[in-house]
Amino acid sequence: MSDFLAEEQENRKIRRKVYQADTLKTVCKSYYTRNTEMKERKDSILQNLHFLHGGDYNPDQWLQRPDILKRDIELMKEAHINCASVGIFAWASLEPEEGVYTFDWLTKVIDSLYQNGIYTVLATPSGARPAWMAQKYPEVLRTSDRLVKNQFGGRHNHCFTSPIYRELTGKIDRELARRYGHHPGVILWHISNEFGGACYCPLCQAAFRKWLRKKYGTLKQLNEAWWTSFWSHTFTDWEQIKPPMPNGETEIHGLNLDWKRFVTDQTLDFFNNEKEAVKSGNPDIPVTTNMMGSYEGLNYFKFKNAVDVVSWDSYPSWHNPDMGDVKTAAQNAFHHDLMRSLKRRPFLMMESTPSTTNWMPVSKLKRPGMHMLASMQAVALGSNSVQYFQWRQSRGGCEKFHGAVVDHYGGSDTRVFRDVKEVGERLEKLGGTGLTETCVKPQAAILFDWENRWAVEDAKGPRNAGIHYFETVLKIHKAFWDLGIPVDIADMECDLSGYRLVVAPMLYLCRAGIQEKLSNFVKNGGTLIGTYWSGVVDENDLCYLGGTPGGMMDLFGLRSEEIDALYDGETNRMVFRRNWTGKKEFGISELCELVHCSGAETLAVYGSDFYRGSPALTVNHYGKGLAYYAAARTEASFARDLIREISGRLGLKRSVETELPGGVAASRRDGEKGSFVFLQNFNPYAVSVKIPGKAKDAENGETLLGSILLAPYQTRIFRK
Ligand code: GLA
Ligand code: ZN
Repeated sequence: MSDFLAEEQENRKIRRKVYQADTLKTVCKSYYTRNTEMKERKDSILQNLHFLHGGDYNPDQWLQRPDILKRDIELMKEAHINCASVGIFAWASLEPEEGVYTFDWLTKVIDSLYQNGIYTVLATPSGARPAWMAQKYPEVLRTSDRLVKNQFGGRHNHCFTSPIYRELTGKIDRELARRYGHHPGVILWHISNEFGGACYCPLCQAAFRKWLRKKYGTLKQLNEAWWTSFWSHTFTDWEQIKPPMPNGETEIHGLNLDWKRFVTDQTLDFFNNEKEAVKSGNPDIPVTTNMMGSYEGLNYFKFKNAVDVVSWDSYPSWHNPDMGDVKTAAQNAFHHDLMRSLKRRPFLMMESTPSTTNWMPVSKLKRPGMHMLASMQAVALGSNSVQYFQWRQSRGGCEKFHGAVVDHYGGSDTRVFRDVKEVGERLEKLGGTGLTETCVKPQAAILFDWENRWAVEDAKGPRNAGIHYFETVLKIHKAFWDLGIPVDIADMECDLSGYRLVVAPMLYLCRAGIQEKLSNFVKNGGTLIGTYWSGVVDENDLCYLGGTPGGMMDLFGLRSEEIDALYDGETNRMVFRRNWTGKKEFGISELCELVHCSGAETLAVYGSDFYRGSPALTVNHYGKGLAYYAAARTEASFARDLIREISGRLGLKRSVETELPGGVAASRRDGEKGSFVFLQNFNPYAVSVKIPGKAKDAENGETLLGSILLAPYQTRIFRK
């Protein structure tokens, strides 16, 4: 390890760069040229390392099989794997009894990976704990929302508050950090695994009350914020307050909201406890935690400053006939966009399946070509890695049939292995082009706010049969995706000033000064598209008095008086006064708001019902910008037509200036070294895409003129 120590000093700055300047190339070249052993390996894959290509590796399940561990390294090299995420659930192998550490196997694994040109993403083991711990300290186990204490078992089954669990986690993390924090093979900390869920034990309840005291100061303020005079729910003692529970309080929306905020904060606090522990070994190794896209339970935006690099686990259900691949692709694109937007930097796709996902209702095989297509989709949208769950399939346990690069057969002569290898080869070649130093740089953003989502979905009314906030966000995102216009996802705390177009659907709950932020955005020349059911409640879920959209009536130049909800199957129509977006009418369903314009111009009206002829779409000139207001939920083609029209007027850049055929996605990564445009065909048939002028294929140098033919599931990358 001492040789490594010397090298480490120099590596520090460069390693940090990987995640800041996003240049894996620099860091790896530097390792390559300074490590003698590496220098001698002419065929080293490190020469070409830019993207990370690897995945979850669980050697702790195979310690009794040195032959298999040896074979793993050979196969990894064959598959062009350059990193492995190690130790994710290895606590029992690292600390078989309290204070007894057995790290030898891990040292051997990390050394041997490194000597073979494979980096380690080193995990902390807190995602699952050993049985001895649950036996000795039952406190570490989670308590359900019906106050049932969980038994030992499963994973992620722990209390985030328990001082004992935090202490034990901190200890093992420090041991890991002390031993490997300076190992040149270790490039990233993977903190825990997919944080999620909540614990309702007395410790968590007490922590929640403490959190509330800090937030509100007095019970009087809390009672006011939660409007507890309703149904005589006034609290007179802090000890009376419990988290929302199915057999207890569920009807105080302010409480529900604060509990979710607390769960995010407490999880983040637990994460920070681990972060501090691993940073004690070497503060320069970046940390991440693998997120789950739009997982409802945690507000990931709160993690954006805590992680050095965002990473996430991507498991779309490809080939699901109910969804179709095109819709699946668009949804997956939303999640990639969301994850990239947290830091507005390249991210890592920490997990994806190389073939099937065994926890889904149907474990469908990825059709030939889909593995490459899905991997390239991540890259196209800003990922600097393609990583898998998992490298080698477990022999037992509940994931023994989950897709893996190496299956129970154990050889490389499989379809899945060849698919993975092909991705590895392609990433290596692409790495040389400077692609990892670029990022998607949208001029438009969709406002998607976790707290708003919690509140709007918790509210009783106006449509308990389906308020469809998240689906609405996805629908708008798909409009951008269909058009090939790059888009970020922002929450209410984000800075919006750099965008030219912001689409903010259903801003039901307003917080973080969003009204002022949006007003300034439009005043300064931005274009905003808002919708029905906006500005309804403040951050405590208390209704705005004196008219809605609260704080935005001037901005939109209107006041909303009522909102009508339609049964499934019922419709209305949005009728344009003139052919504004090329089409005169669009279908309306589910929600229709009745608004009075006070300055806004009416662009379209309702076609039927007692509010026939009243405004359904308006626009208001506000400062130097425009604020549109869609008063009703419209069919998907309306969002697309509206965004096409507005972005055309604004001159927003499309990834490629063309109308894309259905099922074809265009994405673009820009940087100092130029622009890369990705065209991806999610159809199982060939299509041809018109392109303006000339382009050069980034991979084979071919000059492309006029149009590009895309084979089924093909991705082509070209430079502008
Ligand atoms: C998650 C987990 C992994 C594994 C995979 C299976 O992403 O992080 O440990 O269980 O799911 O798809
Ligand atoms: Zn707890």
